[in-house]
Amino acid sequence: AAMTSGAARKRLDMNEYRERLEARLGKSREMMRVVLNKAKSNPKRVALAEGSNEKMIRAAYQMQEEGIAHPILIGNTKVILRKAEELGLDFDPTIANPRDGEWDHYADRLYDLRKRKGLTESEAAELVRRDSNYFASVMVEMGDADAMLTGLTHHYPGGLRPPLQVIGTAEDANYAAGVYMMTFKNRVVFCADTTVNLDPDEEILAEITKHTAELARRFNVEPRAALLSYSNFGSVRNEGTAKPRDAANLLQDDPEVDFPVDGEMQADTALVEDILTGTYDFSDLDEPANVLVFPNLEAGNIGYKLLQRLGGAEAIGPMLVGMNKPVHVLQRGDEVKDIVNLAATAVVDAQEE
Ligand code: ACO
Repeated sequence: AAMTSGAARKRLDMNEYRERLEARLGKSREMMRVVLNKAKSNPKRVALAEGSNEKMIRAAYQMQEEGIAHPILIGNTKVILRKAEELGLDFDPTIANPRDGEWDHYADRLYDLRKRKGLTESEAAELVRRDSNYFASVMVEMGDADAMLTGLTHHYPGGLRPPLQVIGTAEDANYAAGVYMMTFKNRVVFCADTTVNLDPDEEILAEITKHTAELARRFNVEPRAALLSYSNFGSVRNEGTAKPRDAANLLQDDPEVDFPVDGEMQADTALVEDILTGTYDFSDLDEPANVLVFPNLEAGNIGYKLLQRLGGAEAIGPMLVGMNKPVHVLQRGDEVKDIVNLAATAVVDAQEE
């Protein structure tokens, strides 16, 4: 009897688990559908720096088949075509091989951009031929592609540095930041910065907040932002809690900011309506925040992973905000669906250029 009830309980657990999984996948699909449909309405050219990677080839096939993007696979033409065939993918991909003479002017461009940062002419030629992250960055910088994706085969900083050096930040930005969209059964939150700025000051936090709010709007989400800390509105005063507090003040005084924002506050204050409307009824937020800005990279990176692994959220990202052109640096181990989702986000970004 004990065996049966144990098995039954297990089955029940599995059913419950499946239901929860379907519910959250449903929400993330609904969120992504907005972006996928926007992308399909006007697909753009996306340079895939790791073009000979099998996941990238699969993702390129899917983007092309579904009309989400025009992928450009960067790498050795023969290798890519052979792998596509081995994978049974029947398509005629656009390939850019950095070793082809037709791209020699990319080395000149890279040299031009970086010669006053210590790069020599021969180093530029070497980087463009051997490091596809530089090649893809120059391709986007020169307008031969509209967006770039990389990161599957590199440490995150290794994928990030070339586009930071070559493409740089947008006119209204000084800092890039990595945002994860976390979807739960009935809600969605955007977490920043999860991947770039180690110890942002109040100016950087304010900038990250603005760019994350803009990103939320791309997903048709009206942003409500909270600057997070371990104290509520000055309940603990020190250098650490001052940064998010000062960032909130900067944003509240900024005439361009057209969304509610407040802080510093604890995570539960940001997320629980009763706390916001009860204890802290003076807060500029009267509904739970959906843009969560963490005080530093440790908190942001740990925080979103806890939401994903313990909170059961589906994570879409990291979406790089603040860049001059759409660039996303994937995480190693990301799957084909992650690549396609980020490509769609990049296309929608590129449409707004
Ligand atoms: N935003 C925009 N541009 C930046 C930023 C930033 N936050 N930081 C550096 N840059 C620019 C610099 O201005 C510089 O441009 P320049 O050469 O034209 O002057 C260029 O990027 C390179 O800067 P460096 O100082 O040479 O590079 P650095 O070694 O500081 O690297 C980097 C910058 C890669 C962003 C670094 O800060 C970093 O490693 N951050 C943490 C990344 C990380 O480990 N994330 C966590 C794990 S990721 C994950 O979970 C997926």
